[in-house]
Amino acid sequence: MSDLMTEDLAQAAADDVLVSARGLGRVFDVSKPWLNRVIEREERVFLTAAEDVTFDIRRGKTFALVGESGSGKSTIARMIVGLLRPTSGAVTVDGVDLFRSGDIAGQTALRRRIQMIFQDPYASLNPRWRVGDIIAEPIRAFQLEQDAKAVRARVGELLEQVGLAAIDGIKYPHEFSGGQRQRICIARALASKPEFIVCDEPTSALDVSVQSQVLNLMRDLQRELNLTYLLISHDLSVVRYMADDIGVLYLGRLVETAPREQLYEAPRHPYTHMLLDAAPRLDAFGRTAESVVGEIPDPIDRPSGCHFHPRCPHANDRCKTEAPARLVLGPGRTAACHGVEEGRL
Ligand SMILES: Nc1ncnc2c1ncn2[C@@H]1O[C@H](COP(=O)(O)OP(=O)(O)OP(=O)(O)O)[C@@H](O)[C@H]1O
Ligand code: SF4
Ligand SMILES: [Mg+2]
Repeated sequence: MSDLMTEDLAQAAADDVLVSARGLGRVFDVSKPWLNRVIEREERVFLTAAEDVTFDIRRGKTFALVGESGSGKSTIARMIVGLLRPTSGAVTVDGVDLFRSGDIAGQTALRRRIQMIFQDPYASLNPRWRVGDIIAEPIRAFQLEQDAKAVRARVGELLEQVGLAAIDGIKYPHEFSGGQRQRICIARALASKPEFIVCDEPTSALDVSVQSQVLNLMRDLQRELNLTYLLISHDLSVVRYMADDIGVLYLGRLVETAPREQLYEAPRHPYTHMLLDAAPRLDAFGRTAESVVGEIPDPIDRPSGCHFHPRCPHANDRCKTEAPARLVLGPGRTAACHGVEEGRL
């Protein structure tokens, strides 16, 4: 690790940062099978889903990653919980490097402290298990209670904590509504007493009427249990409601990070401007209006220089050839844009 990176991480620790991503990258090999390539005389094809992604998540706070479909949100989430190995860069949680081979003991101890909640609450629950057994599984795996009676009591407590009844433990997942199933997923995530939960689009599969109930529950639990969240969402209203700090992704690169109010009130990056302008809003007739924002380029063949240049109204020649560096503009505030660096934006 370079001196600069070490210094950066020391600063992060001083700011009471729980999770740090540094220069995180992930490339997927999306080539056709070898024989097809030989017959069709094709080269191997690589897709960069995340590139040089750097951000910090403060303890007890919510950091949200926003971006259009395919911008790399889930890929980054999977690296941050240790499910997917990065091609480059590092993730540290409470000072433990998730992927360094010499730190197996630290990584094992961390497994209990990090949990993940997924978009589809039905697919992530085993339909053949009773809800009580689903929630008890992490308690047993991490040996958090002494005997079967204590496990049952803890499961009942968790069900009540997420707004269900202890008796619901004897039912199967299909007997619950979508919102209730997401509550079960939250109870299961809480069962191992985690400090950090990664939530990948936790409410986007739910009806609008129940979305806010689940978001409120997540906020209440955060306050009660001092949880730290990484929230993944493409919905700017969800992010505004939930996040303390926000990172905006475009084609695998983090283009801007900022505390919530600064991002919504005074965005710096042209892409953030475009996202905020395109967010559905009510017009005089109560309908939603959306501005046209152009097409997202092919992630296998990303534009040169700043990936956003074909859609950016402020692009100049430099933008077409040179990738913008990450500029630190203030505490938690960064932007990667030549226009900002040159003082013209
Ligand atoms: N295992 C994989 N193999 C090949 N390509 C992948 C893999 N996982 C993701 N990708 C590609 O990486 C890019 C980023 O995907 P990712 O799922 O991280 O995006 P996302 O921002 O979560 O999108 P969405 O909002 O649709 O969930 C996409 O182009 C996707 O096709
Ligand atoms: S670097 Fe250039 S093209 Fe990219 S967002 Fe900034 S001004 Fe636009
Ligand atoms: Mg995703």
